[in-house]
Amino acid sequence: MTRDSANHTRDQQVAFFDTTLRDGEQAPGFSMSAEEKLLMAGALAELGVDVIEAGFAAASPGDADAVKRIASEISGPTICSLSRATGHDIKIAAKALAPARHSRLHIFLGTSPIHRKAKLNMRKAQVISAIETSVSLAVQHFDEVEFSAEDAIRTERDFLAEALECAARSGARVLNVPDTVGYTTPDEIYDLFGYLKSHVGGAENAILSTHCHDDLGMAVANSLAAVRAGARQIEGAINGIGERAGNCALEEVMMVFATRKDVFDVRTNVDTTKIYSASRLLAKITGNPVPRNKAIVGRNAFAHEAGIHQHGVLNDRRTYEIMTPEDIGLPGNALILGKHSGKHALLARAKELGFEIDDTALAEIFSAFKALADQQGEIADAQLIELFGGARGAPGGAWHLERVEMRAAYGGRTEPFARVELDHPDRGPVTDIATGEGPIHAAFNAVQNITGIKAIVEELEINHIGAKGRTDCIADIVLRIDNEHFIGRARCRDVIPAGVEAYVDAINRAMTTRNLDAYGQNKSPTSSNTKRNAA
Ligand code: KIV
Ligand code: ZN
Repeated sequence: MTRDSANHTRDQQVAFFDTTLRDGEQAPGFSMSAEEKLLMAGALAELGVDVIEAGFAAASPGDADAVKRIASEISGPTICSLSRATGHDIKIAAKALAPARHSRLHIFLGTSPIHRKAKLNMRKAQVISAIETSVSLAVQHFDEVEFSAEDAIRTERDFLAEALECAARSGARVLNVPDTVGYTTPDEIYDLFGYLKSHVGGAENAILSTHCHDDLGMAVANSLAAVRAGARQIEGAINGIGERAGNCALEEVMMVFATRKDVFDVRTNVDTTKIYSASRLLAKITGNPVPRNKAIVGRNAFAHEAGIHQHGVLNDRRTYEIMTPEDIGLPGNALILGKHSGKHALLARAKELGFEIDDTALAEIFSAFKALADQQGEIADAQLIELFGGARGAPGGAWHLERVEMRAAYGGRTEPFARVELDHPDRGPVTDIATGEGPIHAAFNAVQNITGIKAIVEELEINHIGAKGRTDCIADIVLRIDNEHFIGRARCRDVIPAGVEAYVDAINRAMTTRNLDAYGQNKSPTSSNTKRNAA
C-alpha cells in the first residue's frame, strides 16, 4: 500500500471480521454445536478479531441460541448475526443479539443479474427498495449495520454502486463486496474497489469490506488486493473454512500483515501468537485436521527435513524462515530427521538429547541413520537414542515401549483396559494397567501413570500405508503438556502400537525439552549436565 495507494493515509486500521462460525460452519462437515461455537468464539476473542459473525439467527433455533450465548458471554469483539433483507429475520436477530455489548446486523441481498433473475425474481428497483427498507429498519435495533451485495463481483458496476450507496444512505456503516463464487482476480478486485470509492456516494463515511471465496485459490490474494485499494475490513475464516473451497484464510492475511510491513502499512488488533491455538481448536471441534502443508498453520509450515535447509536453519533460522513459529504461538521449530537430513541436524539433535558424538562415531551412526530413514521416513527420538547407543543402560535416556496388551470392549459392563510396559535406562522396566474410554486411551493413561507426565492428546492421525510388499501404520500425535505442544511420530505394523509409540515419542521430546527425569520431575543441575558418550 505504501507503494501504490495515493490516499492511503486516512486510516490504516484494518478490521478482521471472522465468519468461521457462520460461513465456515455452514460448509458440509464443519457444523458446530452452540457449546462448541462458544468455545471457538472465546479463542477468536483472544486472537483479537474485531467482529465475530456468530451465526445466522433466523436459520434455525440452534443458530439463534448460539448467537445469543456468544452475545451474552463473549466480550471484546462486536457480535454479529447474518440476516436476509426481511423484517422477519431482523426481528429474530434482534432477539438473539440483545445481550451483546456491541451488536452488528449483517444484511445480505443478491445484486447480480443471475441472483436477481434466478434466485430473487426481483427487478433492480425492487432490490434497491428492499435494501432501503431493511437497512432503515435494522439501524433502529443494532449498534451498527453491515450490508452485503451478494455476488457483488458479477454485478453490473453501476448497479453495484447504486445498491451500496442506497445502503449507506439508509444507515449501513459497513459496505461489503463479496466475491460469493470465488471468481475475481487480484487486479480486477483492486480496480473494482477503486471504482467504488469514487462512485458510491457516502462511501467516505462507511467502511468498505472484502469477502472472498477460494474457488480459484485466490481468496487471500484478492482480499489483500482489496485492502491495497482501500478496503478496511477483511472477512474470512480460520483455516480458510467456508462454503465450497472455503473463505479467505484469516491467519494467512494476519501473517502477511505481520511479515510484509514494507508492503502493507496497516494496523490491526490481532495478537498473532494466538493463531496456532485458534486453528487447532477449530480442527479439533470440527474433526477436520489442518492439512500438513497448509500455509502458516500446517504442521510442515515450520518443519525442515532437507539437509541443506536444516544446516542453514541451525546456523541462522532466517535462511529458510520468513517468520518464526513463536510468531503464531507454536514453540520451537521442528527439524524433522529423515532421509533428507544431514549430519549437522543429526549432531544438533544428539546434543539436545544429551549425547556428545565424536567424528568417528558420527560417520557410523550417520550411515545407520540413513539406512533406517530410507525404510521408515521420519525417525523418532527413541530410535535416535538407540542409534546413539544410549537407549539401554545409559543415564538420563528416554522411555522405550517394550510391550502393550489391551482389551477392546464395547458395550456390556466390561471396561477397555491396557497393560503397558516401558523401559527406561534409569528405572528399568515398569508396567502399568489402566482403563480408558477405549483401548488406546487406556494405553495412554498407562503411559501417563508410568512417566508421571500428564498430557492432553490434541491430535492423533494414523495412516495405513502399503509399500514394498508390506503394510505399515504411521502415527502422528500432538500432545499438549501444560501449554506447550510436543509432536511424536512412529511407524509400526499395526495401529495400536503405532499410536502408543508416537505418544511415547512425544513424551520423550517433552522430557528432553523440559529436562525431566524418569519420574517426570525436574532433573537436578548435576544430572542434567551429565553427558552420555556415544563414541
Ligand atoms: O459469500 C457471500 O456472498 C456471503 C454473504 C452472505 C456475505 O457469505
Ligand atoms: Zn461467503
